[in-house]
Amino acid sequence: MEAKNKATLAYDGDKKLDFPTYAGTIGPDVVDIRALYGKTGMFTYDPGFLSTASCASKITYIDGDQGILLYRGYPIEQLAVHCDFLEVCYLLLKGELPNAGEKQTFVKTVSNHTMVHEQLARLYQGFRRDAHPMAVLVGVVGALSAFYHDSLDINDPQHREISAFRLIAKMPTIVAMAYKYSMGQPFMYPQNSLSYTANFMRMMFGVPAEEYEVNDVLVRAMDRIFILHADHEQNASTSTVRLAGSSGANPFACIASGIACLWGPAHGGANEAALQMLIDLQKQGGVAKIGEFIKQVKDKSSNVKLMGFGHRVYKNYDPRAKLMQETTREVLDALDKHNEPLLKLAMALEKIALEDDYFVSRKLYPNVDFYSGIVQSALGIPTSMFTCIFALARTVGWIAQWNEMISDPEQKIGRPRQLYVGPTQRDVVPIAKRR
Ligand code: ACO
Repeated sequence: MEAKNKATLAYDGDKKLDFPTYAGTIGPDVVDIRALYGKTGMFTYDPGFLSTASCASKITYIDGDQGILLYRGYPIEQLAVHCDFLEVCYLLLKGELPNAGEKQTFVKTVSNHTMVHEQLARLYQGFRRDAHPMAVLVGVVGALSAFYHDSLDINDPQHREISAFRLIAKMPTIVAMAYKYSMGQPFMYPQNSLSYTANFMRMMFGVPAEEYEVNDVLVRAMDRIFILHADHEQNASTSTVRLAGSSGANPFACIASGIACLWGPAHGGANEAALQMLIDLQKQGGVAKIGEFIKQVKDKSSNVKLMGFGHRVYKNYDPRAKLMQETTREVLDALDKHNEPLLKLAMALEKIALEDDYFVSRKLYPNVDFYSGIVQSALGIPTSMFTCIFALARTVGWIAQWNEMISDPEQKIGRPRQLYVGPTQRDVVPIAKRR
């Protein structure tokens, strides 16, 4: 990278040090502070990485102030309308949208990997039936590395490619199996004549005793949910995948670490929490109780948050939330549930929050999770599976980011430093003399 300019740090009275700055293709410039410690003996301090670019990336761009999300340069609004999920996977992995022939080959290759090893299927029996499906997912995806020794050389691009195909192809099977296991129903083998997303829905909702009928509107909605969640630059789970991968860990272990991070309620678990919030509010009186609820949210001592609102990067409407709201309406129309009370409640809550100074002054807008719980619930997905659906969709983003990191000549093991504020050196007192 060629320096664009320099930034000067004045420190220790009269000392000065220049650092190069670099420009991306869009977005904020960065100050390259890699030499800081070597030259000054100081670290930077940035808990939560509020001002830190951890890598250079060509995959996804977010402008949080404008509410823009681009995958490889393409606006999410266009991808959601003109492409299906596997085209988006191809785009994220390879940098360009496929032409018809490339898409056909890609779809065929993914289809070839949809089944899982029968021994892996037996692994599920070791879990309690009432285990959270995300707990099962972390375990099963991590266990994939025990099955594919043939593709674990991360320095071999072909190995990385086959692992990518395996993960993208098997995630729907693994997620659907976690659901079937929790229900006590038999696993459904994949049917490769169906599209990626129709196949997933059949494995989730079909049973061997009956023919599964594909509903195109619902499949398209699910596919859109996948597209909207496919990547989101250096979020917590993606950074976890990169950090795990930076040590040379295999891709299955890295993706399992991403799934673990995604599980938290401040990240992928928020859709579950957002729906639960709406259900609770509905039980307490619905729209009439919004005022009281908002009061609680604004009271810091209550520890109540408006789930599905706010985002570290978006200080404007999350573009995915708009698309998700549109999809919610389409699904409810297709299912003849126009008057779904939770949608009405969500829209009323959104309107009131967007007019309230607390949210306006903090630039808190709905994020992708505000509506995704309602739509997933309408699709028949139980709340506990929401984050698994997110993990399924995000797998391609994680792999694309992991692959980019491994191929980056500037890649080093991720090793942050700290501001140590603990005790200074002291001597151990023998136990008999300790107070
Ligand atoms: N409800 C009420 N207040 C909020 C909310 C919320 N949802 N989100 C942020 N705030 C407040 C904070 O209390 C803080 O107020 P203060 O300045 O008076 O202290 C201010 O807004 C700034 O919030 P931070 O927590 O500093 O913002 P941060 O960028 O660290 O957090 C996060 C972002 C974690 C997403 C937060 O907004 C949140 O917890 N939202 C609810 C959970 C959620 O929906 N997560 C999904 C994120 S999208 C995704 O992962 C796909």
